[in-house]
Amino acid sequence: MTASSWIAAWSGLVPPGAAVLDLAAGKGRHTSFFAGRGHPVTAVDRDVSALAPSDTVEVIAADLEDGSPWPLADRRFGAIVVTNYLHRPLFPALFAALQPGGILLYETFMEGNERFGKPSRPDFLLKDGELLDLVRGRFSVTAYEARMISQPKMAMVQRIAARLL
Ligand SMILES: C[S@@+](CC[C@H](N)C(=O)[O-])C[C@H]1O[C@@H](n2cnc3c(N)ncnc32)[C@H](O)[C@@H]1O
Repeated sequence: MTASSWIAAWSGLVPPGAAVLDLAAGKGRHTSFFAGRGHPVTAVDRDVSALAPSDTVEVIAADLEDGSPWPLADRRFGAIVVTNYLHRPLFPALFAALQPGGILLYETFMEGNERFGKPSRPDFLLKDGELLDLVRGRFSVTAYEARMISQPKMAMVQRIAARLL
């Protein structure tokens, strides 16, 4: 499982030892990535069958879209990682789960991805500039891209690395 090049590139923003939340962690490629670098990681997904808890990895099974309460209560993290997942109603809880100065690393598909296949539903595609609009006034943006990528497959993505003010 290879980490996203964006997450790997900006992972150095995350302070050593900071607790990391990997939301919609999937098979846990970024859970493994950060755990392997000495971070305690909390991995959340509705399907946790591929996620192995350990001394440093906490696995939480939760459906994030069925109206259940936010599964992390009032916990705060030094960094939050989200890749290839979008459920807009989560943004307030997601941002509230960052400690002051915490790092947001977010990468997912954007408008224009339809031409390459799925996801193609507007619900699953960021609009032009949407990540920037979401963080404006609340985060300091270190890096942002909205572009076509060819690896691991052709896609239109938006991605951001930002620090909560
Ligand atoms: C495309 S995968 C991305 C996984 C991982 N972030 C990565 O990039 O490797 C999307 C993930 O979102 C999870 N997911 C989709 N709907 C969800 C929901 N309602 N609640 C929790 N997780 C959900 C899926 O189970 C899947 O693991």
